[in-house]
Amino acid sequence: MRFCYNRNVPRDWDAYYSDPTNIKSNPHPLLVQVAELLPPGCALDLACGAGRNALYLASLEWRVTAVDASAVALARLSGVETHRADLEKHEFAIEPAAYDLICDFHYLQRDLFPAIREGVRPGGVFTGAIHLASPGHSEAYSLQPGELRQEFAGWKISYYSESPEPQSTRVSARIIARRA
Ligand SMILES: C[S@@+](CC[C@H](N)C(=O)[O-])C[C@H]1O[C@@H](n2cnc3c(N)ncnc32)[C@H](O)[C@@H]1O
Repeated sequence: MRFCYNRNVPRDWDAYYSDPTNIKSNPHPLLVQVAELLPPGCALDLACGAGRNALYLASLEWRVTAVDASAVALARLSGVETHRADLEKHEFAIEPAAYDLICDFHYLQRDLFPAIREGVRPGGVFTGAIHLASPGHSEAYSLQPGELRQEFAGWKISYYSESPEPQSTRVSARIIARRA
């Protein structure tokens, strides 16, 4: 499991999610926007954390698979298929063309993008918001400007922005991209 998330300091995610003040329950606004556009289908939420996005989709009748390395986080999810897996060790294989929607919020692992692109069914959607590099934060886990858009070159990008996250000083790249 990756402990280093940002600011180049270790983070023990199980300890993080053991503190109730760290549990977010509101889905990301971009996901809400996406869910308004799509009929329910099969979704994959990568690095789902305590499940704010996965649970939201499940409440809208999506069949959701949610993956995270933290058992403490996953224990909070019900009504969703969960997998405890270290994505960096590729312990979860994204099935090709299996998902109508793949979500990735606030988790950057560059070598996952090829599998993410393969995992979205033709006509399906990838959405996510991932932090951009900023002083004091690890570049390994932060995007460069334009990088996320470039990952989905050739897809239909219906939304892209680089703007501050709600209640945060950090800027994220946000995307809604549809596979041709
Ligand atoms: C900033 S949180 C984002 C959680 C969720 N996507 C959200 O938006 O609320 C990052 C998540 O990545 C997970 N994570 C970190 N390294 C991981 C790895 N190697 N494999 C799987 N999950 C990992 C952490 O457990 C944590 O839940």
